[in-house]
Amino acid sequence: MNRVGIFGASGMAREAGDIAWALGLEPVYVARDESERDTWGYPGAIILESEVERYLQQDPELRFVIGIGENRIRRKVAERFADRVRFTNLVHPSATFGRDQKSRLDQCQGVIVAAGARFTSGITVGDFSIFNQNVTVAHDCIIDEYVHVAPGANISGNVHLKAGCWVGAGAVINQGDNHRKLTVHEGALVGSGAVVIRDCEPDGVYAGVPAKRIK
Ligand SMILES: CC(C)(COP(=O)(O)OP(=O)(O)OC[C@H]1O[C@@H](n2cnc3c(N)ncnc32)[C@H](O)[C@@H]1OP(=O)(O)O)[C@@H](O)C(=O)NCCC(=O)NCCS
Repeated sequence: MNRVGIFGASGMAREAGDIAWALGLEPVYVARDESERDTWGYPGAIILESEVERYLQQDPELRFVIGIGENRIRRKVAERFADRVRFTNLVHPSATFGRDQKSRLDQCQGVIVAAGARFTSGITVGDFSIFNQNVTVAHDCIIDEYVHVAPGANISGNVHLKAGCWVGAGAVINQGDNHRKLTVHEGALVGSGAVVIRDCEPDGVYAGVPAKRIK
């Protein structure tokens, strides 16, 4: 059975592992250090970050994703291993795509798409972004790198999610238009169940219906 490497040993890593199993791939988890490895109580091979190069000598074709939900940590791991490993995408077989959208996604690396996600068309996706279960992303959105969209969130058409922003479970981002995309700026955090009707400022925390900046 072919394998895929998954950095991380948290719930997000296990969920990425489940996508791998659904694709017929055997996950090999990569723990940061001994303490993370020793608390791992889950079936499947687990190695340390310090063992990755040695492991690649046995299996040079191995590709990796980063199963770490926290955007900043995911970015750090990606940068640390950029010259040492090759990354791939992990897309659950039940995710669905509009015309040409899957081939657009195939140009990316490190993207994780969970079960039931739906992408329509004309969407640009950035490397190392995560789309959780049942997320929808509509036409002409731009999703930058290191974005995390939590389960059940709906991103309407003509939205720009900038690098490192986080959209909480069940949140709705209303549509922008062709000339001006509704923009969630860098590092902004949208709370669960929020309905975003206008731009979110960089690093702001937003919650409620309609969403207001709370921090
Ligand atoms: C919005 C959020 C980021 C705020 O977290 P926080 O910074 O720790 O804020 P606090 O818990 O201190 O709450 C601050 C205030 O916002 C309110 N609040 C928190 N989350 C809220 C939400 N999702 N919707 C509406 N109000 C919310 C709190 O009631 C509190 O109000 P108060 O000051 O009147 O008591 C967080 O609650 C959230 O929604 N995270 C997303 C969770 C999620 O989607 N998880 C998916 C995992 S995959």
